[in-house]
Amino acid sequence: MKLRIHRSGDCARSEEYEVPEFDGMTVLDALMWVREHRDPSLAFRFSCRCANACKECIAVVDGDRRYTCTVAALGEVTVEPLQNKPLLHDLAVDQ
Ligand code: FES
Repeated sequence: MKLRIHRSGDCARSEEYEVPEFDGMTVLDALMWVREHRDPSLAFRFSCRCANACKECIAVVDGDRRYTCTVAALGEVTVEPLQNKPLLHDLAVDQ
């Protein structure tokens, strides 16, 4: 799948990554793959990794506010930080 990430911070930019798919992969899994294999500096928040328990993984996914751990990573996906929260870095906001 292709993951497009709008990274915010001192050097705001959009980056695209080709991420190998696996069954049941979520957008959070894809973000974790990018951080582990392509860019360890990618900032995003999560805690529980299961549907909707911690609510830390919320971001704008293809234009809608979603919990990234609940969204299937299929085809092309665009992820952006929430716009209504103080930005910390990349996709991480102060909740
Ligand atoms: S990681 Fe906790 S709700 Fe998504």
